[in-house]
Amino acid sequence: MKKIEAIIRPEKFKVVRDALAQHGISGLTVSEVAGCGNQKSKKGFFRGTTFEIQLVPKIKIEMVVSADQVDSIVDIFLKEASTDTIGDGKIFISPVEEVIRIRSGERGQEAI
Ligand SMILES: Nc1ncnc2c1ncn2[C@@H]1O[C@H](COP(=O)(O)OP(=O)(O)OP(=O)(O)O)[C@@H](O)[C@H]1O
Ligand SMILES: [Mg+2]
Repeated sequence: MKKIEAIIRPEKFKVVRDALAQHGISGLTVSEVAGCGNQKSKKGFFRGTTFEIQLVPKIKIEMVVSADQVDSIVDIFLKEASTDTIGDGKIFISPVEEVIRIRSGERGQEAI
């Protein structure tokens, strides 16, 4: 099992969510987050003073899926969340040791 954590532009959330639903993804967690990437030290200029642009609003989508689903889900993000410009976001993939459905006590694949 793998966890896919994707940080995307808020305005891309709807098309991504629809594409994930189309793909049969049922369980996911969504958070409103703020972050910075490579452009963190870019300077802005406002009313005579410079300031550092630090945090940009993003949406974080977390999904735990079986390992064989990872590639097709990554493809969905690459297709739907891209504007081909800086700040499009990032995808992190990590191993998941265990999943437990609280209601039934089911574990592993059955609990996803
Ligand atoms: N290394 C990282 N670790 C954790 N979160 C990150 C990391 N890089 C980016 N993020 C998150 O992803 C969001 C979008 O990052 P962004 O797309 O700007 O990455 P980037 O590396 O600067 O790529 P680009 O040059 O395309 O902008 C950030 O606001 C932050 O929330
Ligand atoms: Mg960036």
